Amino acid sequence: MFFLYHDMSHYEKYLITAALPYANGPLHIGHLAGAYLSSDIYARFLRLQGKEVVFVCGSDEHGAAITIKALKEGSTPQDIVDKYHNLFKDTFEKIGVSFDIYHRTSSELHHETSQEFFTTLYDKGIFETRESEQYYDPKANQFLADRYIQGTCPNCSFAEAYGDQCESCGSTLSPTDLINPISKISGDKPIKKKTTHWYLPLNNDEAWIKEWVEEGTLEGKQLHDPNDWKNHVIGQCKSWIENGLHPRAMTRDLDWGVDVPQSIDGSEGKKLYVWLDAPIGYISATKQWAKDNNKNWEDYWKSDDTALVHFIGKDNIVFHCIIFPSILRSHGDYNLPVNVPANQFMNLEGRKISTSKNWAVWVHEYLEDLPGREDALRYCMVKHMPELKDSEFTWKTFQEANNNELVNNVGNFVNRAIVLLNKYYDGVLPEYDAWAEIEGPQGQDELTCYDGEILGLFDNIHRVYEHVHKYDFRGGLKTIMEISTMGNQLLQNNAPWQLIKEDEEAVKTVMMLVTQYVGALRIVLRPYLPFASDKLSDLLNLPNLKEDGEWVEMMNTLADGEDILPAGHKISAPSHLFTRIDDELITAQVDKLNASLILDEVATTASHSAVKETIAFDDFTKLDLRTATIVSAEKVKKTNKLLKLELDLGFETRTVVSGIAKSYDPEKIIGKKVTLLANLAPRKIKGIESQGMILMADDGDESLCFISPEKDDWSNGMTIS
Ligand code: MF3
Ligand code: ZN
Repeated sequence: MFFLYHDMSHYEKYLITAALPYANGPLHIGHLAGAYLSSDIYARFLRLQGKEVVFVCGSDEHGAAITIKALKEGSTPQDIVDKYHNLFKDTFEKIGVSFDIYHRTSSELHHETSQEFFTTLYDKGIFETRESEQYYDPKANQFLADRYIQGTCPNCSFAEAYGDQCESCGSTLSPTDLINPISKISGDKPIKKKTTHWYLPLNNDEAWIKEWVEEGTLEGKQLHDPNDWKNHVIGQCKSWIENGLHPRAMTRDLDWGVDVPQSIDGSEGKKLYVWLDAPIGYISATKQWAKDNNKNWEDYWKSDDTALVHFIGKDNIVFHCIIFPSILRSHGDYNLPVNVPANQFMNLEGRKISTSKNWAVWVHEYLEDLPGREDALRYCMVKHMPELKDSEFTWKTFQEANNNELVNNVGNFVNRAIVLLNKYYDGVLPEYDAWAEIEGPQGQDELTCYDGEILGLFDNIHRVYEHVHKYDFRGGLKTIMEISTMGNQLLQNNAPWQLIKEDEEAVKTVMMLVTQYVGALRIVLRPYLPFASDKLSDLLNLPNLKEDGEWVEMMNTLADGEDILPAGHKISAPSHLFTRIDDELITAQVDKLNASLILDEVATTASHSAVKETIAFDDFTKLDLRTATIVSAEKVKKTNKLLKLELDLGFETRTVVSGIAKSYDPEKIIGKKVTLLANLAPRKIKGIESQGMILMADDGDESLCFISPEKDDWSNGMTIS
């Protein structure tokens, strides 16, 4: 044959990183669909291309999220990170994520590595020091991380907004924006106290970061083609850069994390900010791997024959495209990533996946509840991978993907092939005539020639290659399914079970073609469904793939006009590659999911926020509470949460903007009796003047209900005491 296999990548070595997960809760399907399956597919794929791959990850074990979790569970940060680190490691292994090393940021090597980074940047005079006032809890004797402060959101009046973000209206906050801030540690009002920190002046890097992100060039040298980057990744960076880059504190007043090196003046009580810690975890992981494997870690981080690729979720884009590159370049001599193929988010059954609300499919529970179905999950995750926009997982689509695609397409095709080969030839692949012209029965599509079909197969495998190469994992998987469909059609159109009565020689040719399809699936499926690939190896009586250039070998074999599976080879007896998932299993999972959300609601109520500071009776009498009736309600444009309400107070009508749209349809609340705080200072919300506030009970889970007079016919405008 005359076609040639050509390699599209410029690199021989790849350093692939997957975002270090926070060790404060188990892995859920959103994690898999975000950074881990994409990186795993890419790593396995490149190994199959014969590339040298180092695929690193580890647990992110520092930061306020972990101390808060420890506080909540009455445990210690160390116990929390140990627990989740071990769970992560085990879960990744079981679901087939093929890290070369799964490290952790609590390791000594990591502490040393990130401290060395800090010291180098410090010695180079990169940092600026700045004094600022920050919230401090005098009772707990510590500065408060943003997440340790709660208060009322200045934008939407949500009472439990965090110091960095309001989860109700989504706005980004800083702790000093909160009205009535409360320390989550002691429940007291925090005081402001002066503190000094080291800042990375990102503003100094603005010019080169802009050029590098937008053009892919650095000091005139083309490092990557920006067209290879996803639009949403570049878009997020651009909007950050357009807002101007600002100095960012690289240290924190915390008690859990990597210490600012003691050699530095004023280091006491200071820890490295998590973004000067976690991504350096990629480097310390590589160092550990190199130690264990007798390699030099610098060959992977500092030499231009190695491509660095960061796989992350969209919440980490600016950290990997702006902050970490700035840190790496400030240090000097490190490679910048050639791509950061971030994924967006996967939702679950119509809601955002939420660890705190327990709305998630936990991967370790999936593995227990649906044993042996690792690849079914991987398949469905990739099929709905949020590569360019948010996507959705439902148990129903999972069942359909498994039953209609894995079982009915791939499973069925492979099974028919293996059964027939065993039936006709006792499993020994027959000698055949590659030039045999086979006419399909009843004048159906005829099989043109063996070579022509193999060329088609070759082209399709190459299409898979192109998709994966462009980080289009969904496209790659779809093409693999098309290959399987074509294999099925070969069987269907040539109906060997009929042909065998007329032309045994022709059947041999058909079956050998079909066999090449099965042999190709064993290899092309490997990055996506490694367990199915192993099973295919068993069925074909071949060793499991080592992921060491087998893809290239296959393409060269086909290009040379030879068979991937030659005559004379004996395969194994048939057994099913995939099995159906029935309705009961799906219903049980849906029930479990719904039940866990309810349990969580109970838990939220039980661990309710602390009772606020005592107030005097006089303070209470200042509130003018009135009964009222909602007379009209409509959604405020361009918001999801806000309704504009007209209230009849008996003596006047008021307009109130209320954040209840997630709990109530506007049509359904007309005529509803409510309680209004009538003397709250008016406020403009989205251009509408809101004249008061309706009292609502809040279950802490985005659901609200009215605090209404018990009698539906109660008069309006009555005071409440
Ligand atoms: N632990 C963080 C997260 O899960 C950050 C991971 S990315 C890293 O979002 F670069 F910091 F590792
Ligand atoms: Zn808010």
